[in-house]
Amino acid sequence: MQEGVQRASAFAAPKGVPEYYPPESAGFVHVRDTLAGAAERAGYGYVELPIFEDTGLFARGVGESTDVVSKEMYTFADRGDRSVTLRPEGTAGVVRSVIEHNLDRAGLPVKLRYAGPFFRYERPQAGRYRQLQQVGVEAVGVDDPALDAEVIAVADEGFKALGLTGYRLELTSLGDAECRPAYRERLQEFLAGLDLDEPTRARARINPLRVLDDKRPQVRRQLEDAPLLLDHLSAASAEHHAAVLAHLEDLGVAYTINPRMVRGLDYYTKTTFEFVHDGLGAQSGIGGGGRYDGLMETLGGQPLSGVGFGIGVDRTLLACRAEGVQPWSEARAEVFGVPLGDAAKRRLVVIAAELRRAGVRVDLAYGGRGLKGAMKSADRSGARFALVLGERDLEAGTVGVKDLASGDQRAVPLDSVVTELVAKLA
Ligand code: HAM
Repeated sequence: MQEGVQRASAFAAPKGVPEYYPPESAGFVHVRDTLAGAAERAGYGYVELPIFEDTGLFARGVGESTDVVSKEMYTFADRGDRSVTLRPEGTAGVVRSVIEHNLDRAGLPVKLRYAGPFFRYERPQAGRYRQLQQVGVEAVGVDDPALDAEVIAVADEGFKALGLTGYRLELTSLGDAECRPAYRERLQEFLAGLDLDEPTRARARINPLRVLDDKRPQVRRQLEDAPLLLDHLSAASAEHHAAVLAHLEDLGVAYTINPRMVRGLDYYTKTTFEFVHDGLGAQSGIGGGGRYDGLMETLGGQPLSGVGFGIGVDRTLLACRAEGVQPWSEARAEVFGVPLGDAAKRRLVVIAAELRRAGVRVDLAYGGRGLKGAMKSADRSGARFALVLGERDLEAGTVGVKDLASGDQRAVPLDSVVTELVAKLA
């Protein structure tokens, strides 16, 4: 800031929307790409989906009674008077895309990964945003417990590749069309006998499973003896669940069973899971997912099952910070050119281009800055080496290569400086 002028911007980013800019944005990119890389290595092809879709897709796919659909969607009429919604999650869009483009006709399962922003009008707080970023996968068309385990293991690999250790995997089964209705009735009967306020009673009538997630102590106490779906699974669901656990054990993926897990989206059946990080306070879910038997048919496709996850990139980045792991570099450049004079600048501009072509990240001091200011920029860029070139160096045919960590500087022939730096930085 100059001459004490306050730079009060006339505009601010929307409330609850995190922005990532250098140097911290390097962490965001690294987390996103590491998580997506684990999915890519397991054969999940990339899909780029619309940021907005027909509102009906989410109402039907995610469920009208969920908070996400009933309270949190960014819905508006476009200029053609169609009701569209900024996507609150990715699964409904992927399944819509699979159906629309007949991807399920070309061999199953269809394995897709995606990354990008999602929108939920939630009350902003640490780790809870209105524009959130996810990396997700969906494997559609095969109801094989090994695939549930693969999806979970891919998420786990992603977290491990970042160096995270302070998280746990919680898992349960939400059963299937055979056991769910009977369990629902059993739970409703149980809830009817409790001392609950009217809104909670209403919730028990519409979606009794959600009452199990009530955080209030006086409700929790009464729920201790509630029947659990995990104890009332159909034979097929119980077998599926046991097979998933066996695969996870084979893979060495640790889990805890949480039979009271309630997810905020309605499409889940059978395997349902959440990755929880202990260093994040209230917004501890760094990723979640599960199987969805009926979604594809609900959206007008074949009756095929699918399984997937969505990992929160913002929260995973917070988890890295909480654990103090930073497997990425915030340096913008590896080499920083400091030209002293116009002739030096002409030469350094070319050397920078050659280094960039060889894969080295290079930046230069522009604007004819003096040595001191340019060296400050070199430090700020995070570069390992500064190339200092003045008139006298040019005459001698050399350039000063300064190691910015140690401060050592050596004269290197201009003809060989590119090869030498490429070798040093390899
Ligand atoms: P979800 O649990 O709603 O699942 O979201 C997945 C992850 O996104 C959460 O675990 C969390 O890390 C992150 N997330 C959600 N809301 C916010 C928020 N307001 N601010 C910051 N991070 C947030 C889904 O979206 C499902 N589509 C996942 C899935 C894929 N299930 C099957 N396939």
